[in-house]
Amino acid sequence: MDKPAAERRISELRNQINHHNWRYYVEDQPEISDADYDKLFHELVKLEEQFPDLASADSPTRRVGAPPLDKFVQVRHRSPMLSLEDAFSEAEILDFDERVKRFLGLPADKDIDYVCEPKMDGLAVELIYENGAFTVGSTRGDGFVGEDVTQNLKTVKTIPLRLNLTHPPQLLELRGEVYLSLAAFQKLNQEREEAGEPPFANPRNAAAGSLRQLDSKITAKRPLSIFCYAPGEATGAEFTSQHGFLTNIPHWGVPANPLARKVANIQEVLAYYREMAAKRDSLPYEIDGVVVKVDSFAIQRELGEKTRSPRWAVAYKFPPRQAITVVERIVPSVGRTGVVTPVAFLRPVEVSGVTVSRATLHNWEELEKKDIREGDTVVVERAGDVIPAVVQVVADQRPKDAAKFPVPQTCPECGSEVVKIPGEVAIRCMGLSCPAQIRESIIHFASRNAMDIDGLGEKYIEQLLRLGLVKNVADLYYLTKDHFMQFERMGDKLADNLLTAIEQSKQRELSRFIYALGIRQVGEHTAKLLAKSFGSMEHLEKTSAEELLSIREIGPQVASSILSFFHNQENLLVIRRLVAAGVKPTVEEKTVGGKFTGRTFVFTGSLTRFSRDEAKRMVENEGGHAAGSVSKKTDYVVAGAEAGSKLDKARELGVQVITEEEFLQLLES
Ligand code: IVH
Repeated sequence: MDKPAAERRISELRNQINHHNWRYYVEDQPEISDADYDKLFHELVKLEEQFPDLASADSPTRRVGAPPLDKFVQVRHRSPMLSLEDAFSEAEILDFDERVKRFLGLPADKDIDYVCEPKMDGLAVELIYENGAFTVGSTRGDGFVGEDVTQNLKTVKTIPLRLNLTHPPQLLELRGEVYLSLAAFQKLNQEREEAGEPPFANPRNAAAGSLRQLDSKITAKRPLSIFCYAPGEATGAEFTSQHGFLTNIPHWGVPANPLARKVANIQEVLAYYREMAAKRDSLPYEIDGVVVKVDSFAIQRELGEKTRSPRWAVAYKFPPRQAITVVERIVPSVGRTGVVTPVAFLRPVEVSGVTVSRATLHNWEELEKKDIREGDTVVVERAGDVIPAVVQVVADQRPKDAAKFPVPQTCPECGSEVVKIPGEVAIRCMGLSCPAQIRESIIHFASRNAMDIDGLGEKYIEQLLRLGLVKNVADLYYLTKDHFMQFERMGDKLADNLLTAIEQSKQRELSRFIYALGIRQVGEHTAKLLAKSFGSMEHLEKTSAEELLSIREIGPQVASSILSFFHNQENLLVIRRLVAAGVKPTVEEKTVGGKFTGRTFVFTGSLTRFSRDEAKRMVENEGGHAAGSVSKKTDYVVAGAEAGSKLDKARELGVQVITEEEFLQLLES
């Protein structure tokens, strides 16, 4: 490449990388896979090496991460949090070892002690301990200035709030990676999809999105974990080696990855990498490579740092879990809420040990953007996720006659009109009796996290529908053994088991029942909130917008979805028939341990001791419920000056009325 061409390409790459950095670090919603990003980055590094006078201080190759967001208070790191240089092959690792020795003036055949660690796919944070107490926690940000996420980090259960040391150091900075386990990541994405929110692309984005929340209550619900991997500044503590650091901190209560290992030379590094590559798919968290560090801190200091990364460490990345295959068909599929999404049926291909034959294309906009057509050769990738994704089309392999796949105008299953809901990317079938929606809603109702009807899976549900034995979920509870015996290959015992499973599901917890109903935007988490706040179906059915909105975390969209579900006569009829068949959801304990557990408060009049929001928070912190209107269920009305109709209503219903002072006394009693 000549210089003018290199200059153009460098500028193009910088623009692209800056754009992708923004999507990744700021919005936590990347557009391209990590592997594709690495490719762009690597190309830029190589070009800048080849044409050193085209390198510039503001190139993304000189920077780490992205500047902190304004919505957080900023924290300047005492010493910069650097990034790591990547390596993708054994040759690059051997090069790294040679560079280290050359820099130190050591002979090429001298062995160096290294520490190898899994490269966690999460986000880097710094934890500051002053005299043993956790005081400030921040994200890496741009390496110099990060975001203050102390309150959020305090909700991470494995971060000790106090070091387990009798004589803790005056100051100890710990750096580590906050991550989300694969199980938690998949559960979170499932909940998001059910609630109509876009799923996170990978566990890293999920962890970052969870930690960079303004409301730590949301963070607290995400089971984040941490492994610490390096000390920052320290006063009153001395470490001489990486291995010494990693073996010490667990005694102080700080988690370090138990898979980290000290090795005696670069050959052992290569063996460690192969071992981890083989283990990768069975680990409970996502790793994207191995980090190799010179063990001795004295040697690390001697080697020093370059602008964005240290000379004493390297990240040896795993190849992406990608494969190339052909899209045989694109099929619009209808979910239980009527959303019609494109699914790609692929020529089966193995992607790191798993055969992939289907990939979700998420929505029609994505299909359009990536321009995926039937017959296309595509790159598919598994990114720590169960559902593989189509990363991109191999453009020059497109068959001549491949046409764009049209966005359906009618439901592929029932022919009803499909509409695009304003503000959503999804298109939805509006058919009330769409068989696909009915099938999916029954499958959902019986599924493990809902009513958990053991054994009643997709195949049996399809047969029930085909035989016309069920038309909605209530019909399940009116089935008899004779009905099941009409199935192909159905035995006596199997039919009995299915009936028992249906019978047993009659007494599931209320939250499961609410979730099983498949109310749009009500995932497991919201269902739990509703169960806790209302305590019974009767109460929930009669709820009002005001009451729903008084529940923290329930916004206007979710509230309106709940209301329209219960305003639908057909839905109410199904619930009546479920109840008549003996379905009796059990009531869950409300938040345990709080002073106001199970109590409902209404605040009215002008309050002088606290704001309405504070009052609500105080009640909720103690497990109670702050409602907007007075009913028989209200336990206390807290009345300030000039209380009006709510006070009258309380008197009329005989609800206890107390003053603000009395409320505070109750709280402190
Ligand atoms: S050491 C100066 N160790 O990888 C070296 N980093 O690209 C500091 N990471 O910012 C990093 N696991 O977010 C180190 N065991 C590990 C790691 C690790 C994941 C991440 C971390 C860092 C990035 C470097």
